[in-house]
Amino acid sequence: MSTPTILRPLTMRGLTARNRLWLPPMCTYSVDARDGVVTDWHVLHYASRAQGAFGTVIVEATAIAPNGRLSPFDLGLWDDSQVAGHRRIVEAVHAAGSLAGVQLGHGGRKAGTPPWRPDAAAGARTATLDGWDLVGPSAVAYPQHAEPRALRADEVRAVTADFAAAARRAAEAGYDVVELHGAHGYLIHEFLSPLSNTRTDEFGGSPEGRRRFTLQTAAAVREAVGGETVLGIRLSATDWAEGGLTGEDTAELAPQLVAAGVDVLHISTGGNVPAQVPVGPGYQVPFAAQVRRAVAGSTTPGGGRPVVVTVGVITEAAQAEQIVGTEQADAVAVGRPALREPYLPVRWAHDLGVDDWRQAGLPIQYWRGAWG
Ligand SMILES: Cc1cc2nc3c(=O)[nH]c(=O)nc-3n(C[C@H](O)[C@H](O)[C@H](O)COP(=O)(O)O)c2cc1C
Repeated sequence: MSTPTILRPLTMRGLTARNRLWLPPMCTYSVDARDGVVTDWHVLHYASRAQGAFGTVIVEATAIAPNGRLSPFDLGLWDDSQVAGHRRIVEAVHAAGSLAGVQLGHGGRKAGTPPWRPDAAAGARTATLDGWDLVGPSAVAYPQHAEPRALRADEVRAVTADFAAAARRAAEAGYDVVELHGAHGYLIHEFLSPLSNTRTDEFGGSPEGRRRFTLQTAAAVREAVGGETVLGIRLSATDWAEGGLTGEDTAELAPQLVAAGVDVLHISTGGNVPAQVPVGPGYQVPFAAQVRRAVAGSTTPGGGRPVVVTVGVITEAAQAEQIVGTEQADAVAVGRPALREPYLPVRWAHDLGVDDWRQAGLPIQYWRGAWG
């Protein structure tokens, strides 16, 4: 049989992932010491998904500054002392044959919450932890969160420098892919959206103004990581809300990001304001397809075609195969199912009729356990 499309290699810049299945970034809030440092648990978690044959493994949202953490339990890359732990993840993921990436983020006005941890502040005034230095493009609160302080223009530039410094550390740790978190209502998305950015200075006031922070940050990160690292960005293509970002806005932004040095566009939606979202199988795929059409004529400065990744309620092998086979996206990320099933790509290969276990990505040590 011919190789299913989702199992074919994917080249980004000079690097090739063995297949088109991505583990998307998923916070695990597992830094019990609250110092942003990688633990054994993180190494095992990501290595397992690499062994399960995700071609590209993206480590959860990792903060570029302490106040950019979504919770005190997030990973960080704001300090050189945090590089060594990330190097352990990279080495483990590489040993299992996958590309390793990290998502760099700043939570902006949604930072500083105690997510699902048992020590959540019961009965607290807002979802924001007391005393957190909460910042955003404007002093506009996310519902039930504290009001952020609007960053001054010089502070906006300092955040860009923090992104670049964290990206340099990510490259030092050996990551193949650096993904900027520009989705889900966190700082970059907050700048992009008119619902959270009411500034009138150079970083707001018009689509160009609202995009300036994102484009300048992408360019600074590209410069910081050099020419070999794959640079991605995760975007919420739409706010799903009146007056917010639309698929058209994101399709217009995408080629500008490619010109700034971005190789991969990872398309999600929502998160900036509470909204009615029509969640269902593959509900975000049309937005990825729209972005893919918008960058079809672009080439990355690295010389290749930009790669578009889709995500969201993609739960069956045939569904993923159809999405990539019809060129709606170049790759598919599978999140929640991979939390319960780290070897999901191997099973999907089996579901698609692959019985060559090398091709499926099943480690040779496990071939005796392959389907009969
Ligand atoms: C526990 C959990 C943590 C998540 N953390 C992040 C994150 O750190 N960064 C991010 O961009 N998305 C995050 N997401 C969103 C996922 O990457 C993914 O887009 C979402 O779960 C939809 O894909 P799925 O239907 O395959 O799970 C998270 C999702 C879950 C369930």
